[in-house]
Amino acid sequence: MKNETLEIIYTRRSVRSYTGEAVPRETLMKILRAGMAAPSARNIQPWAFIVVTDRGKLDSLCAKLPYAKMLDKAGAAIVVCGVPEKDTVYGGKYWVEDCSAATENILLACHALGLGAVWTAAHPNEDRAATVREILNVPETVVPLNVIPIGVPKDKGHVIEKFREENIHWERWQG
Ligand SMILES: Cc1cc2nc3c(=O)[nH]c(=O)nc-3n(C[C@H](O)[C@H](O)[C@H](O)COP(=O)(O)O)c2cc1C
Repeated sequence: MKNETLEIIYTRRSVRSYTGEAVPRETLMKILRAGMAAPSARNIQPWAFIVVTDRGKLDSLCAKLPYAKMLDKAGAAIVVCGVPEKDTVYGGKYWVEDCSAATENILLACHALGLGAVWTAAHPNEDRAATVREILNVPETVVPLNVIPIGVPKDKGHVIEKFREENIHWERWQG
């Protein structure tokens, strides 16, 4: 019997080509809720999400971010930000892990809703993080981890199987 959730996980791909259609606010809220459902160390949730739907801002990001050119036809983008100062327990130690878990949830939610999305890196590239900070008014204490362009996929795309038996070690490291 097929499991719908597992099918979504198995078939998620980075989608970099969109029709240009807008993404409705209610849909973005569902995606953000998925992001915030992610696990985080001690449930500190040291994150913030900047939602960009304004065409001018999407174009500015597109112009200045060398590896996010797909923003030109994205209907929206979510910038996942780490807020280390929210973590008074571990001194901000786990924000990358926590925000990465939130990012994967966002990517899966987009796929489940029939949208395409891709993780484009900001941190740890200082120049890209600085670009995002400047365009979106992000304070120095907040770290943009990535920019996730989201849109209606232009084509169906295809799934690549990434399962590799050799990556699995049963009981102890083999080899
Ligand atoms: C940390 C990280 C940074 C990435 N940065 C970019 C990026 O800047 N631009 C881009 O087009 N894709 C980026 N990707 C997407 C990867 O290229 C993609 O996940 C990988 O090729 C596997 O393909 P899949 O997502 O379709 O399975 C990034 C992915 C991760 C996890």
